Amino acid sequence: MAEQNIQWFPGHMAKTRRLMQEKLPLIDLVAEIIDARIPVSSRNPELPQWVKNKPQMILLNKCDMADAARTEEWVRHFRVTKMPAIPIDCKSGKGFDQFLPLVRSILQERLQALQKKGMGGRTLRVMVAGIPNVGKSSFINRLAGSNRAKVENRPGVTRGNQWFMISKGIELMDTPGVLWPKFEDETVGEHLAFCGSIKDSILDLETLAVRLIATLSDLYPQALTDRYRLTCDVKTTEPYDVLCEIGKNRGMKIARGEVDTERAAAALLEEFRNAKIGRMTIERP
Ligand code: G4P
Repeated sequence: MAEQNIQWFPGHMAKTRRLMQEKLPLIDLVAEIIDARIPVSSRNPELPQWVKNKPQMILLNKCDMADAARTEEWVRHFRVTKMPAIPIDCKSGKGFDQFLPLVRSILQERLQALQKKGMGGRTLRVMVAGIPNVGKSSFINRLAGSNRAKVENRPGVTRGNQWFMISKGIELMDTPGVLWPKFEDETVGEHLAFCGSIKDSILDLETLAVRLIATLSDLYPQALTDRYRLTCDVKTTEPYDVLCEIGKNRGMKIARGEVDTERAAAALLEEFRNAKIGRMTIERP
C-alpha cells in the first residue's frame, strides 16, 4: 500500500484570501457551510481570522447523513463558543426555515444602526463560504430558487460576482475563489477523503478503506458489523483483516479464491459516503 502525503497549497489560499478580503467591505455576514460529519476537517481554520470583524455563522450541512445526537452536540458546542450555528440538509431543506431569522437576529444591531441613518431599506449581504463539496451551490440554489437567474453586476463589484436575492432585502454571494481545506494535519486529509470531499487518488483506496475501518471500529462498531455481517470482533481485529472479511462476505473474489480487497475498499467507501452504513459523525467536539 503506497503512502502519500496530502498537500496543502499556501499559494491557492493566499489568492482566495485576497479575493475574499476585497469583497468583505460589501458583506454584512459570513455564513460558513461545513460538513456535519466532519465539523473540524471541513472548516477552514483561517477563515475566522480573515473575516474577524464581520459577524459569522455556521451551517452544519448534510445533517441527513450525520449522527443526529452528535450534530446536536456540535450545535451546542458552537453556541457555547459564541458562534451561532444551525444544522441543515440541502437535500430535504431541513433547517432552512431557521436561516433567515438567524441572519436577521445576528444583524439586528446593524439593521437598527442603518435605520437610524435613514438607510433602513439597504440590502443585507451574506457571503456563503466553505471548502469545495460542502454544499454551497446546493444551499444557494435551494434558497435562491428562481431568483438564481437574477445575476447582476454592481458598482464596485468585479464582473462575474454573483449575487442571489433570497428574500426581500437579503442577498447571498458565493465564496470568491476556492477556499481550500487546510490539510496540514494528516487526519484532516483522511477525513475529507472518507467523505469524498477530495479526490480518491490522493490516497490509494485500500489505505483509505483500512483507515476508515479503524475509525468506524472505534466509533460505530455495531453498525459496521451489522452492515457487512461480520463475525470478527472489529474492535480487536486488524482493520485490513476486517476489509478482507467484508470482501469475502460480499463474494468479491479474484483468481485462486483470493479476496478482491480493492473492490471491497471501493464498496465500503461508497457506502460510507452515502450513509448506507448508518448516519455517522466521525469528529467530536
Ligand atoms: P459545493 O458547491 O460546496 O462544491 O457543493 P455542492 O453544492 O456542489 O454539493 C456537493 C455534493 O454534496 C453534491 O453531490 C450535492 O448533491 C451533495 N449535497 C449537498 N448538500 C447535501 C445535503 O445536505 N445532504 C446530502 N446528502 N448531500 C448533499 P454530488 O454527488 O456531487 O452531486 P449530486 O448527487 O447532486 O448529483
